[in-house]
Amino acid sequence: MIKNHWYAVEFGHVVGSSPVHAEIMGQQLVLWRDRSGAVIAQSDVCIHRGGSLAGGQVINNCVRCPYHGWTFDSDGVCTDIPANKPGLPIPKKARVDTYPCVERYGYVFVFLGDLPEDERPPLPYLDVLDQVPEARAEGFRAITGEFEWAANFERVLENGVDIAHAPFVHAGSFGNPDSPVVEDYEVVEILHEGWNIGNLSTVHLDPPEPSGVWKLISKKSKERPPIMTRTGIFFPNMTMLEVNLPLGTMRIFTAVVPVNANKSISKWTMMRSFFTGSWADKDSRRRTDKIFLEDQATVEAQRPELVPVDLSAELHVKSDANQIAYRRWRQGALDKGWGIDQHVVGRDGDYHEVRVIPSPSRRNNPELANAWVLKELDAKMKHETKPALATETTTESVDRA
Ligand code: FES
Ligand SMILES: [Fe+2]
Repeated sequence: MIKNHWYAVEFGHVVGSSPVHAEIMGQQLVLWRDRSGAVIAQSDVCIHRGGSLAGGQVINNCVRCPYHGWTFDSDGVCTDIPANKPGLPIPKKARVDTYPCVERYGYVFVFLGDLPEDERPPLPYLDVLDQVPEARAEGFRAITGEFEWAANFERVLENGVDIAHAPFVHAGSFGNPDSPVVEDYEVVEILHEGWNIGNLSTVHLDPPEPSGVWKLISKKSKERPPIMTRTGIFFPNMTMLEVNLPLGTMRIFTAVVPVNANKSISKWTMMRSFFTGSWADKDSRRRTDKIFLEDQATVEAQRPELVPVDLSAELHVKSDANQIAYRRWRQGALDKGWGIDQHVVGRDGDYHEVRVIPSPSRRNNPELANAWVLKELDAKMKHETKPALATETTTESVDRA
């Protein structure tokens, strides 16, 4: 896992007046809303006795631990220790890590890292697409859902932009088993504020025989032209699949939440420009779930469980350009020293200790260097190697900011 990036960790609509728990690569987070409605993201390990703040309440613009009532403000500073006699000072160490947090596109993005603001990569900039994943996107109907995987999030992410698997894994839905050849496609880097924030690819796929309601609709036309399909990946944990059907466009944005090394949750937003009435939601949901279910057994069975860091550990062909581009991006982040050992965060071993991804307040306040109860993660990934393969990647600025 890569630190110092904005992770989409939850739908905005899930965070209401009560605190909500989120687990990101073994790190416990609490999400809550302050008085202004902004989402606050903090370490969910109370530094008193390890209580989960998410089990508590939001009171007076603070989150209150359910165990002994300590309260923490939106900067993570403890403002009340109810068991103390009035007038006793609150220890300096009574603070929890607070992470920069932004709500956009219907998702809560949390910056997991300690870079100062002017050095941070930008938020995933989905505006490069003409329609973003929000119900308000004009002309589109959006529904959301979740799918849980017993698989590492990077295997799920790569699956989301894998072109060549459709005829095999999705023969029951959009894949055409009679047309497995993948045309040459370009991986276009999305540049924003000087950063490569993601990649987009366009391929034309031969559609399979229509079924169900689609069969009735397409009865008249015997012709089935190739379908323009776009796949996108927005670093570090979002993918997009766009299918341009004769009737209109369907897009699925998926935030793949890395719960721990072996578990991830896809939080998806499916948008369609056709059948925009609520009557079609049930069928849309069923079709979206079906796609994930078709992928599930294959993705969960992949070994090794984690996407290898060494590119030569798996064999690539031209149609894998999307995944290779992702691995090259990841290598770049590892080279910056931003890799986090997923075994350590996921606590494979030591249950006596919780470690946290350092938040900006640690770096911003050197005078507080010793004022943190929880130790920082060791930010080294176990197997750091150089990529063994270069691929053709076109750089084309689609920055519209
Ligand atoms: S564990 Fe949170 S107040 Fe005691
Ligand atoms: Fe798939």
